Amino acid sequence: MTDPMTTRRLYGRRQGHKLRLGQADLVETLLPQISVPADGPLDATRLFGGDRPLEVEIGFGAGEHLAGQAMARRDTGFIGCEPFLNGVVGALGHVRDEALDNVRLHMGDALDVLERLPDASLSRVYLLHPDPWRKARHAKRRMINHGPLDLIAAKLKPGMEFRLGTDDPTYCRWAMMVMGQRRDFVWTARTAADFLTRPEDWPETRYERKARRQGREVWYFRYVRI
Ligand SMILES: C[S@@+](CC[C@H](N)C(=O)[O-])C[C@H]1O[C@@H](n2cnc3c(N)ncnc32)[C@H](O)[C@@H]1O
Repeated sequence: MTDPMTTRRLYGRRQGHKLRLGQADLVETLLPQISVPADGPLDATRLFGGDRPLEVEIGFGAGEHLAGQAMARRDTGFIGCEPFLNGVVGALGHVRDEALDNVRLHMGDALDVLERLPDASLSRVYLLHPDPWRKARHAKRRMINHGPLDLIAAKLKPGMEFRLGTDDPTYCRWAMMVMGQRRDFVWTARTAADFLTRPEDWPETRYERKARRQGREVWYFRYVRI
């Protein structure tokens, strides 16, 4: 587990354009109702009032994938983590429009939430189009690094999945290299089609759509926790 005395730095934007009135209202009223409690240990009962499978999405952007998964499996609890306020507003809109009572949000660093969950408690972890931090001197900032991966591995139940999507060739190569060094995950792909085609139960994200529109390749990685 990460030493709680170590202060982690969170890179990236926290806010973009000014919120419209309706958006600000969502942040004021709905966000407090579905926010992950600010401290203390977390589990399904504390978050959702009873035992159920739990999944975490790291950096959900505007929340399309999170909402798509939550709509498809209403008995699973989804914890979405995203520090970017304008993205959180997007997810709040989905939660309201689709009446999703199986979503909890944390506006901040996903690692802070993962640390507070019991070991071997998660059925899936998603990391979709993470910030690539392309410069070599920024490589330590990438979510795919052994520190965050140790945490993800600890929190996943054996046999359950870590899903990674990226449209960035540098990140793709980096992730394959780092994940290839892990003894606690196996890559499920058998053929190229397995990582070049989006699985049916993998709702499209905004970054993925943008990459496709611009003619870029997208890679879909599924790793099983041993
Ligand atoms: C390139 S965007 C991709 C957003 C979305 N997953 C998609 O595919 O459209 C990466 C997101 O990760 C978020 N992020 C970066 N570091 C994070 C962290 N430590 N915890 C949670 N989210 C993080 C950023 O705020 C950003 O919204």
